[in-house]
Amino acid sequence: ESCRKECQLAELRLVRNSFSLGDADGYADAVFVRFSASRLAAAAAALSAVKAPRRVARQRSEALDFLRRDARAEPRGLSSAEMSPLWGSRQRLPAFALGPQICAAIRRHQVTLILGATGCGKTTQVPQFILEDFLQRSAHCRIVATQPRRISAVSVAERVAKERNTRLGESVSFKIRFEDKIEDTTQVVFCTVGILLKVMQSNPNLDGATHIIVDEVHERDLHTDFLLILLRRVLNERPDLKLVLMSATVDPSAFQSYFEGIHTVSIPGKTNFPIQELFLEEILPKLPDRPGWRRSGKSNSKGSMGQKPLPVPQDERALAEALQLPMDLATDLAWVHQQRPEDIDYELVVQVVQMIHGSNEPGGILIFMPGWFEITNTIERLQALPFAADLSIHALHSRLPTWEQQAIFAPQSGRKVVVATVLAETSITVEDIVYVVDCGRSRSTFLNEDTKISALRTVWYSKANGFQRRGRAGRCRPGVWFRLFSSLQWEAMDEYQLPEMQRSPLEELCLEVASLQLGRPVDFLAEALSPPSKEVLQHALELLHRLGAVTDAEGHSLTPLGEQLARLQVHPMLGKLLLLSVPFRCHNQMLTICASLGYKSPFQCPMGMEKAANQARLNLAQKSRSDLIALVNAYEGWRVGKRDFARRNFLSHETLDYIHRLREDLRSTSREVLSTVPEDHTDPDDLAEACKAVLTAGLFPNLAWLQRRGKGKSISGLPVVVHPGSVNSTEEWSTVVFYEIQETSNRFLYDSTVVGLAPSLLFAPSRSWREVHRGKRVVVELEQSWHVAVDVQVADELFKLRQLVANFLDT
Ligand code: CDP
Ligand code: MG
Repeated sequence: ESCRKECQLAELRLVRNSFSLGDADGYADAVFVRFSASRLAAAAAALSAVKAPRRVARQRSEALDFLRRDARAEPRGLSSAEMSPLWGSRQRLPAFALGPQICAAIRRHQVTLILGATGCGKTTQVPQFILEDFLQRSAHCRIVATQPRRISAVSVAERVAKERNTRLGESVSFKIRFEDKIEDTTQVVFCTVGILLKVMQSNPNLDGATHIIVDEVHERDLHTDFLLILLRRVLNERPDLKLVLMSATVDPSAFQSYFEGIHTVSIPGKTNFPIQELFLEEILPKLPDRPGWRRSGKSNSKGSMGQKPLPVPQDERALAEALQLPMDLATDLAWVHQQRPEDIDYELVVQVVQMIHGSNEPGGILIFMPGWFEITNTIERLQALPFAADLSIHALHSRLPTWEQQAIFAPQSGRKVVVATVLAETSITVEDIVYVVDCGRSRSTFLNEDTKISALRTVWYSKANGFQRRGRAGRCRPGVWFRLFSSLQWEAMDEYQLPEMQRSPLEELCLEVASLQLGRPVDFLAEALSPPSKEVLQHALELLHRLGAVTDAEGHSLTPLGEQLARLQVHPMLGKLLLLSVPFRCHNQMLTICASLGYKSPFQCPMGMEKAANQARLNLAQKSRSDLIALVNAYEGWRVGKRDFARRNFLSHETLDYIHRLREDLRSTSREVLSTVPEDHTDPDDLAEACKAVLTAGLFPNLAWLQRRGKGKSISGLPVVVHPGSVNSTEEWSTVVFYEIQETSNRFLYDSTVVGLAPSLLFAPSRSWREVHRGKRVVVELEQSWHVAVDVQVADELFKLRQLVANFLDT
């Protein structure tokens, strides 16, 4: 059967392509005789070995009919897409048959929601359906399809170009930060959501675009939800613009009430290949060395920093009963049920890999981990396996440079093992992945509504995430989904993740709303699919007000400072650092600091080398007592010594390279925003002092008071600990400023800088400057829980300086 089809397709291609089809039938016959006779003969020979020759003859005449019919039906010749070697596999996708229906729906309705299982062909096919529909009518379209991440924008564009048999850029292309491959002829552009938002700043009505496709709408990230508000408004202005939303795992009802008249098309059918699904209780009995793993991890009864534990039985008897398990298995599961999401059991992961490898079945393994730290831990353990040489191990993380991310797609000699974050969850196909090992956790930003501290937190994921991860297997052959948690845990998980807009800080978004003059942020964001809580919005606006970015606590309009902050396109705190660095003459240092804070730290801490790594960082910090000044020195050293310097100092060359690019980008935007930038200080001590002053001013109220061995309290009274990797981890009795807190196993301060009291007094917003005269001292109340006593004279001086700074910021 497949042989016959291959022949038919091959002939079709030849017929319609090699000849002008004046006489389709005649040529079809001629070619059939000339070319396909030999091929069909080969096919016939193969078939006749197992089947009656008469049947082959019938098939032969069927093939001829098929040829004739098709040659008549489409006398325009084969398109280059049909010539692609991938044409056959496209045709087999569940989405393919629905092409005409999808096109008709899109033509008839302004908003279309397309649902279909992962791997059915939404991402790669829908843009092509639209394109082909237009091509057939000799019309021109411009389709912008958003992807949640850079890696998917690039890999999908490459795949679609290949399917269309064209060069990337010709009709299909991508645009991501730092890389724009769009040409005049490009009709389909895959880009990140951030890029589309940027385009809308200068082209709010999206003139020129005919279709906007928002892929993976289930992710509900901040930017996509923001984009949807804007798009909903644009649809009114541009009745001709078509919006297509797509997802595998979304609750359509939310969108149905959000977009009036939305039309839904469901693509029936499961994934291309079957996927075996296993829960931990089914995996455990198969492990090669099960008794060992239980003792390896630490079970923690303290409870998680953030998420409430899943409501699952922790008692072995109850478990044995509920799941009908033998006692020893129930004991193991009970132990697993006690684990917090942040307790990753690496031994379990390693054993699963061992089991897969031991089975001698071919196929790559994709392991999902919550973050970079867990990825490196896993990789180290995998590398210690006796058969590590047979594995080709890769990390996949959003912060790796694009080219490094792309490496996972290349064929490898050994068994491919990719250890990835949520980044690999959507829109990508790694062809040789057969096994998905899923720890069931993800890491994202959560705002603690009580403390208003936003922190990266490891949490149990939602079922929707699980289905996406499952969908990474079975794309090119049958697969297995190993869920490293029990079926009871799965049942207790949420269906969908809380939309990011309802769990993350909103100051950047509010600044953007104010700068685009979209009205009061409170009103604008009320139009969101899932509007944020009033409290969190209030907090964001307060922060902006404190930073001096908005004129009033409602966020009605921006101050001159706010306008500049919005133009800088970084978090407003980082923006303020950049602006302040000008009068304080440490602009180059602050560029490095902001590029890194907005991205990630280049400092590495390899397992077993912690001491040496910490020492290297201390050396780089010199006497500054600042992780950020250490960072500046690291960057300067790397600019000269590159890879060699990075290796010697436990720095990531790749991260520094990316920081460098971000820094250049930041430098050119700040050049546009700032009129003149004076020379920086030349004396290193002056420079360090200036940096500290700016950090204090810009990062307020991110202040903490350390008491013993890096432990202390934040300005709002929360207990905090300086991360052990910091140069300040043993600091005592001092004030530090920091950019972010990460709540993992503890509330960690990552990038801290010890500052004197003077700068904190100098830059604390004036409304919290309260003086209480007590003889010769003045007690200044910076925040409710933060009092500082200063000499009256010093206070006077500071007060004058404060006025100067305030005046500067006002203008
Ligand atoms: O978006 P959806 O999950 O529905 O599917 P898709 O990304 O359009 O991919 C459809 C199919 O194309 C996959 O199941 C793979 O078989 C294939 N594909 C591939 O082999 N290589 C790629 N880079 C992308 C897709
Ligand atoms: Mg997709």
